[in-house]
Amino acid sequence: MNEMKVPAPAGGGGQTASRPAAAETPAGGEVLRVEGVRKRYGGVVALAGVTCGFPRNTITAVVGDNGAGKSTLLRIIAGAEHPDGGTIEVNGASVRFRSPDDARSAGIETVYQDLALADNLNATENLFMGREQTRGRSLLTFMRHRSMRRDATRIIRGLDVRIPSVRIPVEGLSGGQRQGVAIARAVNWGSEVILMDEPTAALGVAETAKVEEIVSGLRERGMTMIVVSHNLDQVFRLADRIAVMRRGELVDVLDASATDGQHVVSLITGLSATAAATEERA
Ligand SMILES: Nc1ncnc2c1ncn2[C@@H]1O[C@H](COP(=O)(O)OP(=O)(O)OP(=O)(O)O)[C@@H](O)[C@H]1O
Ligand SMILES: [Mg+2]
Repeated sequence: MNEMKVPAPAGGGGQTASRPAAAETPAGGEVLRVEGVRKRYGGVVALAGVTCGFPRNTITAVVGDNGAGKSTLLRIIAGAEHPDGGTIEVNGASVRFRSPDDARSAGIETVYQDLALADNLNATENLFMGREQTRGRSLLTFMRHRSMRRDATRIIRGLDVRIPSVRIPVEGLSGGQRQGVAIARAVNWGSEVILMDEPTAALGVAETAKVEEIVSGLRERGMTMIVVSHNLDQVFRLADRIAVMRRGELVDVLDASATDGQHVVSLITGLSATAAATEERA
């Protein structure tokens, strides 16, 4: 097994809001829970009342056809969208996120498919964006560049992500390296829960394998992940649990070691396993 360290959060300015303490969660308990979450866009019901718990230290894959509501669910958990109804709990405490910053303060960070980094900034600047380490106060505030560079290097190396330098703009990095930096940013923030919406959709085979390795390594270190993926092979490589969505509803949450692709496809399509298999062959 790859020895991977998840470093402690590297300080920085940001973690001010009170975060429900991990210690409050009973062993094997749910770090996150959504209950009856609903969302409409005009006439479209994106989420029809989704209830699901996410046990600590697990990877839940969220699967479903286009438009099933997967991204909407993640955006709501990430604080990027507001639900029309329902509740979210973090470590058993009810939370209401007005923005992604609120979700981050509660220990929830998102890594998006489109590799959402600031291209013109380097890895260190991306890792510390919005929560730069400073010394001094008010008018005499200084960035602690050296310390941030050191922390960025430690975190990125700790994830076994190889980049030429934390000082070059990330636009010069490959997709896999960029996704590594995006995950390092989530780790740097000290997140307990990382949401990933199709994190490898823009990546090649080797880069996908690297990202999967990082994700599995984070679970080894006790983190909880929710990963949207259209790639069922990847889902079975990574996930402990498979949450199947169809037309805004959570159809089932399966134990990944106790199901197979055919059954998952049958739940995604709403067809029986045999019909789904026939259709897949056609
Ligand atoms: N901002 C929006 N405005 C209007 N409709 C939206 C918006 N976001 C999502 N929808 C609609 O809500 C439904 C669920 O969309 P969502 O993006 O959550 O699906 P998804 O499961 O992520 O699909 P995909 O696999 O294609 O990414 C779709 O019918 C979609 O068209
Ligand atoms: Mg989506």
